[in-house]
Amino acid sequence: MKTQLLNEEEISYAAELLRSGEAVGMPTETVYGLACDAGNDDAVRKVFAAKGRPADNPLIVHIADISEWAPLVREIPPLAMRLAEQFWPGPLTIILPRSEKIPAITAGGLDSVGVRLPAHPVAQAMIRAAGVPLAAPSGNRSGSPSPTTSGHMMMDMDGRIPAVVEGGSCACGVESTVIILDDAETVRVLRPGFVTPEQLNEIAGRVIVDEAVLAQPEEGCVVRSPGMKYKHYAPNAQVTLVNGNHQAFLQYMAQQKTQGVMALAFDEDAEDFEKAGIPFRTYGNTDEKRAAAFFGALRDADELGVTHLYVRAPRTDGVGLALYNRLIRAAGYDVVSADETE
Ligand code: TXA
Ligand code: MG
Repeated sequence: MKTQLLNEEEISYAAELLRSGEAVGMPTETVYGLACDAGNDDAVRKVFAAKGRPADNPLIVHIADISEWAPLVREIPPLAMRLAEQFWPGPLTIILPRSEKIPAITAGGLDSVGVRLPAHPVAQAMIRAAGVPLAAPSGNRSGSPSPTTSGHMMMDMDGRIPAVVEGGSCACGVESTVIILDDAETVRVLRPGFVTPEQLNEIAGRVIVDEAVLAQPEEGCVVRSPGMKYKHYAPNAQVTLVNGNHQAFLQYMAQQKTQGVMALAFDEDAEDFEKAGIPFRTYGNTDEKRAAAFFGALRDADELGVTHLYVRAPRTDGVGLALYNRLIRAAGYDVVSADETE
């Protein structure tokens, strides 16, 4: 099958496909998703198959209005409602015990469902036109970097699904913040995103960043969010995450061989890397910009034939935490410190 790229005027056709049980690429403000009718087992099966996704990894369900949430879950605790009112539409996924409206297959066999109301107007229009909540994991092949443009989605899904809807480049560029409630006042961050722990703390009494966010899960251990145990976001190039300031990163890179090697640097590093003749690309001057750019940068590195990509690590506060969380996984936990003296 040839995959069609649809524009905004063709959303009603995309909705027709969705209602008839097909999987369709959907732009959101975080990353492109591979959407289907969340209540249709066969459609959900197609999504798992097109991605090559393990069956125990649950899908996030997308709604277009907060009123569509209650039927999908057993109850909405006051803290969850306060969070939704503050951060929806937007990049926050809230996990609650699921109702019988969510099939077990959509939930990866779990007793819960993560729901979010995306901010992207095309995503909202698709959900409304389909008339059902849409389950949508990120639209990459399982293990690959998440798609932040329709081109990335075509790269991974051409021939596997009937259509992708065009929605431009994703503003956030990393997937939503995924949270669960430990108790009536406590939020646990399972996956960091553009809604930061600092922001969540303004609404919740307590915010815990799950230990799996920054650590390598041990072999065979039980993680709260199944997605955290899989190898993720990895390009073909080997990736090393380098902690260190400008000078330390520059010196570290000067010691690497140059054949097939590239540095993914901050904007401020450019001039000195240029002078030193070290192959590099930059990925932004703020954590927000770096987050938006970095999945695309991983794909570009592969296109350029890079065999080893060294990425300058962000700090782990604010949106930097989301970026760092994706980077350690893309690097297969190969993290080095260049700041011997710091
Ligand atoms: O921004 C996003 O969240 C994007 C766009 C398309 O909305 N979607 C996305 O979905 O990133 P996915 O499937 O690639 O990542 C969902 C993550 C996985 O790590 C999964 O294990 C976790 O959320 N998750 C989903 N439902 C869960 C649940 N009920 N319990 C625990 N973890 C859950
Ligand atoms: Mg994903």
